Parts: sequence; C-alpha cells; structure tokens
Amino acid sequence: MTTRQNKPKLLFATSEVHPLIKTGGLADVSGALPIALQKLGCDVRVILPAYGDILESDLSLNFLAETYLPGVPGKVSLLSTHLEDSPVQVWLVGHSSAFARRGNPYMDVHGDIWPDNAERFALFCKVIVLAALDRLHLGWKPDVVHCNDWQTALVPALLKQTPEAPPCLFTIHNLAYQGLFPQATFDALGLPATLWSPEGLEFHGQLSFIKGGLVFANRINTVSAQYAKEIQTHEMGYGLEGLLQYRREELSGIINGIDDAIWNPKTDPLIAQNYSAKSLAKKKVNKTALQEMLQLPAKKDIFMLGCVSRLVEQKGVDLILEFLETITDKPLQFCLLGTGDLSFQKKFVNMAKKNPKQISVIIGYDEKLAHQIEAGADVFIMPSRFEPCGLNQLYSMRYGTVPVVHHVGGLVDTVVDATDKTIADATATGFVFNQPTVAALSEAINRAHLIFNKPRTWQKIVRNNMNADFTWQKSAGKYLDLYQIMQQPFSKK
Ligand code: ADP
Ligand code: GLC
Repeated sequence: MTTRQNKPKLLFATSEVHPLIKTGGLADVSGALPIALQKLGCDVRVILPAYGDILESDLSLNFLAETYLPGVPGKVSLLSTHLEDSPVQVWLVGHSSAFARRGNPYMDVHGDIWPDNAERFALFCKVIVLAALDRLHLGWKPDVVHCNDWQTALVPALLKQTPEAPPCLFTIHNLAYQGLFPQATFDALGLPATLWSPEGLEFHGQLSFIKGGLVFANRINTVSAQYAKEIQTHEMGYGLEGLLQYRREELSGIINGIDDAIWNPKTDPLIAQNYSAKSLAKKKVNKTALQEMLQLPAKKDIFMLGCVSRLVEQKGVDLILEFLETITDKPLQFCLLGTGDLSFQKKFVNMAKKNPKQISVIIGYDEKLAHQIEAGADVFIMPSRFEPCGLNQLYSMRYGTVPVVHHVGGLVDTVVDATDKTIADATATGFVFNQPTVAALSEAINRAHLIFNKPRTWQKIVRNNMNADFTWQKSAGKYLDLYQIMQQPFSKK
C-alpha cells in the first residue's frame, strides 16, 4: 500500500460542527472525528456553511476564494479557520442570503423550517463538489470525500457526473431526516436532468436529497451496527429499506466515539467537582450542587434521574411524561434539559409546576447544564423509539451515571443490561427495556432503583461504566479502513 493510501487527504462535509454550531450529535461527531483522523495521519479539511453565528463570533477567519454558481445570485466565498486547538482546517462556505441569518442551521428562531432549505443546501453541495475537484484552485484535491446526512447528500450524485471525481462515503446519522422537496424544486435547482428517476433522486414523485447519498456514494455507513440492520427493515426503513438492502454489501455500521477532552469527569471545568472511578464519593458533590441549582430538595440518598434531549417523538419523551405521572409516592427526583416540539415543552413545564419537589424542567439549550446533569444524576434515561447511535448514553457512562435505555439502535450496541450474570462478570453497564411502553420503562427504572439501594453492587456498575472505552480512536481507525478500501480502484462502483 502506498503512503498516499495510508494517509488519505479527506474532505469532511457536514452541516454542523461543535463548537462552531450545534443542534445535536452530528455536531459532536463532526467536531471530534476529523481531529481523531488527523491524529491517525489523514490530512483533513472540514467543510461547513458560514452561518451568521459563526461570522459574528470572534473566530479569526481567512479568505480563501470566491466564485459564482450558475443560477445563484451573488458571490459565494470560501473562508477558513481551525477546529479548536487542532491543526484541522475548517472551510466555511459563505453566501450572505443563504447562510448569514439568525436561527439555527435548519429553522428560524420560532422553530419554523427555513422555506429555502433545498436551495441553501444544494448551494452548499455544489461548492463542496467544486472543492472536491479543486475547481476553486486551492491546490488541494481530496482522495476521499466524506458526506454526512441529507444536507450534503447531493454531493455523491453530482460527483458521479465527473470521471475524475474522488470516491465518496455517505454517513447516515438519522434516516428520519431525508430532505424531501417537491419536483418543482428539483427543476429549480438546475440539477442534471438524468438524476430525476427512481434510480436517482426521485422518491415517489418527490426530490429526495438523501437518495443522492444512498444511491451514488461508493460506500454507505451509519453510526451503529444495529442501526445498519434496522434501516434495512420495513419498520425503520421509511420506504428506503429496499435500496439499503440492495446496497448491503457496501453498507456498514461504525459506532460513534466521544471526545474525551470535552467529556471527562476528571478534568471537566463545567462541573462542581471533578472525580474519577477511584474517587466516586466526590460524584455526590455534583448531585447536591445540581439539586441546589435546580431548587430540588438537596437529599443525598434520593434516586435522581436525569435527561438531556431534543424534545421530539424519536426520543420517546412521551413515555417519560407518562412515567412522571406515577412518581408522587416514590423517593425519586427527575430533571430534564431540552428543547424541541412546543407541545412537549409545555407538557414538561406543566408537569414540573404540578410536582416541583420532585421534578425540575429547564427548557433551553445549555451546554454547561448538560455536563452538570451528566455528572450529578444517578441514572440517565433514554427511552428512544429509534436511536441511530446516541451520544448521551456514552457521556453518561463516562460520568458514572447509569443509563436506562430502550433496546434499539446504538443503545443496543453500547449498553449491557444488568442481570445476575452480567453483574457477576463485571460487564453490566445499564438497564435495558425491550418495549417502547411506559410499563417497560417503569420496570427498568424500578430495577435500577432496587440495585441503587445496594450501594456495593451499584458502585460496581458505575465503575464498569466509567472504565468502558468509547473514545474515538477505535472508530476513527474503522473510518480510515473504509477510506482505504474506497481508494482501491476495484472498489469504485
Ligand atoms: P441527537 O443528535 O439525536 O439529538 P445524540 O445523543 O447523538 O442525539 O446527541 C445529542 C447531543 O446534543 C449531545 O451532545 C447532548 O448533550 C446535546 N443536547 C441535546 N439537547 C441539549 C440541550 N437542550 N442543551 C444542551 N445540549 C443538548
Ligand atoms: C443523529 C442521531 C443520534 C446520533 C447522532 C450522531 O442525530 O439521532 O443517534 O448519535 O446523529 O451520529
């Protein structure tokens, strides 16, 4: 194998990157995986839209290039910066009317989806393609392009139009979000007409961005082996299961890692008291601090459940609401940090008003409080109806906060249910339930509560969690293997 194959030049395309801009786990992955890959010897450029919040921050930005795109009014520019404390360059695609606006990458401040998302992300994809072919004349052409989710999924389709294009990996972080738009949008975007077919971007008469990745990428992966299987079924495939089955030889699952520099109870500057598996008593200081901050009675021995989540159907938050109706006679507390659907937000706020001694709800996005809940709670609940990987259970494990999870997706691949056997062989890390029902969730929480009252056994489980290895190193190696396979000429589709 040549050195070039060992150390590919990689263009990593994504719509969010922590700490520059974040709505969920994709940002965490995009902020950590490129750094892990760079450490393994890849030469990585991350490419991201230049959102208003990034342009207004105090980051120092360098001008790289500018160009015009057919059918797009105004100039498109390319700026550069660095991923915090790392040599990884981030290229920012600037177009003032598409990206320099208030709100998050996908919706306005009222939670309404931007009406021109197809145009915005098609523009982004077209610039990624120019960068991938070095048509912006930067003297750097990637060996591999790695696209993530629907916002970048036109890239593989557009690259396939050009013989000198590098191979492309498409990662599915969440198949529920597909970028579906009317046929008229396809016409307006000026995409090659041949792409309009059921073997291309058409999906039941609509334009499907994600099909660009699923049909045209040389390889496809998703963020856990279990989710890679689930999306090939009728129940979880959203009608794309046939296509995914057809591509199963090129489809794999690679579990996400966590960024140990950010999520580490030994060094975390955002929590009240640092601790490790060897100084577990100190974890309790975080529980008391959290209770005081949230104005819950500061009882050391009460069983404290935590949750940090987008408040959407996917996360099974309706099950949590139902469960909370049943806790008044139990010695437990619950705290939630989240934003999302307005109706869920309202229901949680009302629930906390009804039972303020046991329930605390913070609606909002708060990085610091997310760390404090991970450190302070005894258990973290994730009753997700589906979960491609899930990062919060991994953060909880790192902080010795035992996860209670539904047996689905990445939660299956990362959490080991506590049974007599797994407790005895020191593999137990959490409490897993099989049905997405409130009865099953309650049963798992009760099981956890019973063991919580046996401190020696509980501490064993806590330590198993804290000693588990979910750093990026292993998973980044698997991505590198995939890139290398894709660089071999016979692997091109
Ligand atoms: P998803 O990407 O589906 O939302 P993940 O578990 O992969 O789920 O990642 C969620 C990420 O977003 C985690 O880093 C979590 O801490 C963070 N997060 C979610 N909601 C909030 C919030 N309200 N405040 C702070 N962080 C949040
Ligand atoms: C998606 C999924 C989540 C996953 C994250 C990062 O948002 O919902 O399960 O952890 O992407 O891959």
